[in-house]
Amino acid sequence: MSELGALSSIDALSAALAQEGYFADRRLATAVFLALRLQRPLLLEGAPGVGKTELAKVLARVLQRELLRLQCFDGIEQREALYEWNHTAQLLHLRAAHDSKASEDLEREVYQDRFLIRRPLLQALQAPAPGAVLLIDEVDRADEPFEAFLLEYLGEYQVSIPELGTLRANITPITLLTSNRTRDLHDAIKRRCLFHWMDYPDLARELAIVRAQVPQASAQLSQQVADFVARLRSDSFASAFVRLPGIAESVEWTQALVALQAAQITPDLVQETSGVLFKQQEDVLRLNQLLPELIAD
Ligand SMILES: Nc1ncnc2c1ncn2[C@@H]1O[C@H](COP(=O)(O)OP(=O)(O)O)[C@@H](O)[C@H]1O
Ligand SMILES: [Mg+2]
Repeated sequence: MSELGALSSIDALSAALAQEGYFADRRLATAVFLALRLQRPLLLEGAPGVGKTELAKVLARVLQRELLRLQCFDGIEQREALYEWNHTAQLLHLRAAHDSKASEDLEREVYQDRFLIRRPLLQALQAPAPGAVLLIDEVDRADEPFEAFLLEYLGEYQVSIPELGTLRANITPITLLTSNRTRDLHDAIKRRCLFHWMDYPDLARELAIVRAQVPQASAQLSQQVADFVARLRSDSFASAFVRLPGIAESVEWTQALVALQAAQITPDLVQETSGVLFKQQEDVLRLNQLLPELIAD
């Protein structure tokens, strides 16, 4: 669907996302719709595996925009996010031209566009029409100075490079930030963005996702997976686990059960495949302990 079609209403946006295999609830679709309409960055916060990164990927497809992804990590620096000079190429150029030119000319030459390595934040500003979707992923992993730098970027959508001057966005990138909430983000960043807390999906939506992604699974098996995972995440059990299964785990578990030609979930099968649902030793142990209660009825 074209950008205009997807933007005409919340329903149209939901339908366009669903067409690409992404199932959003009304609240999320509204948040995305408003972010597009108001041209504001959208901050998606939530547990791992609830569909934050996937949303950006699918949105880029729906809008037929290029996806530019900045994966944040501890110690990330501006030169990895924005730009850096290609020192090797600059040196080679200097060496080749060394004898024939005045040094001021040389200095000007090495700070040309062609020696600039563009990283995602700069690429997003210079993306050709219709513009980019910019995903700033797992921003909670970056440190506070980097957050402050982001704040400036999101405020102006422009970048000043001392040797080249100020570069402004051709088209404001559609910007999504995600956080797994390993720490609280700065208030200023939150104020700059629209905010959406992403929860695990309800049963119906999880079932829809599993059915769409693992069509080989029977209706009954998919339903059992969705029920079981919902039970794990329910108030009675959630606190027993360090890290609950996300949507990715539900999908993978269904694939695993299909690969094992399982017609339905049994306690033995849950035990044998527990490493698909849980990736922490203590969680696997807890699952096995709680199994009688979990499969009780
Ligand atoms: N709403 C959704 N509709 C369809 N698939 C989804 C949805 N949410 C998550 N998924 C599936 O779950 C996987 C994990 O989601 P991801 O976006 O990586 O989670 P997060 O970034 O929140 O940790 C995705 O690859 C996708 O297959
Ligand atoms: Mg992610």
